[in-house]
Amino acid sequence: MSTQTDIKKVTLLDLKKFKSAGEKIASLTAYDAGFATVLDNAGMDFILVGDSLGMVVQGRETTIPVTTDEIIYHTKMVVRGTQRAMVMADMPFMSYSSADDCLNNAARLMKEGGAEIVKLEWGALEIPMVSRLTECGIPVCAHLGLTPQAIHKFGAYRVQGREDDTAKKMIDDAQALEQAGADVLLLECVPMQLAAEITRNAAVPVIGIGAGPDVDGQILVLYDILDIWPGKRTRFSKNYMANAGSIQNAVESYVAEVKEARFPTAEYSFE
Ligand code: KIV
Repeated sequence: MSTQTDIKKVTLLDLKKFKSAGEKIASLTAYDAGFATVLDNAGMDFILVGDSLGMVVQGRETTIPVTTDEIIYHTKMVVRGTQRAMVMADMPFMSYSSADDCLNNAARLMKEGGAEIVKLEWGALEIPMVSRLTECGIPVCAHLGLTPQAIHKFGAYRVQGREDDTAKKMIDDAQALEQAGADVLLLECVPMQLAAEITRNAAVPVIGIGAGPDVDGQILVLYDILDIWPGKRTRFSKNYMANAGSIQNAVESYVAEVKEARFPTAEYSFE
């Protein structure tokens, strides 16, 4: 279990200490104050206001239509419901396609929304964006592997990095992003051995979603663990609601399983 329950407010320094101490980092998405309070009370280390809200809250097919204004609206609510957890906000599709847009939109997420770190999805253009945000003192999480904003390029939600060349590219990209200043890396739908290698090589915390157990922390979409997503649940996400009795219990079980390295097992990971 966490040795850091006395922390008043989780910061990047704490996430780095967790990595050095081998303590797993627990995270979920949330989009409003009520759920953020439940997550915060359960001891979540950080909460992501993900653009997944486009799918689970707005009922859209993809995350692509989500706007910066919408992320700001939801981030404000999450911040109001949070005391301990660090709050991360997603930069939506095309909100970081030029250096100026990237800086302005990241600044809005922090100044108007109250986010403490922003996340962007990795693509060929993002190294200069990460450097620019870093120069301006904006903490950044870089999301690699399956990046849902590029779903129409991928053609399907599939595991990434299974071939030797794509695995090598992901290892190189992760190093380049860290050198550019990324403070956290997030790997989505990546074979567990590859995620383990990226985590061993990284000085910054590596968070996984469908990336196996050998990363520094885990994140899932809240609605998936509460079984309220009407579609087909992703293979890597677990239903914590089944025997929980309450949402608070379900979220606390998730935090405990992550902290005690009981989630994810092979059943929720990819080879
Ligand atoms: O938007 C989101 O919820 C995410 C997670 C899947 C990591 O990016």
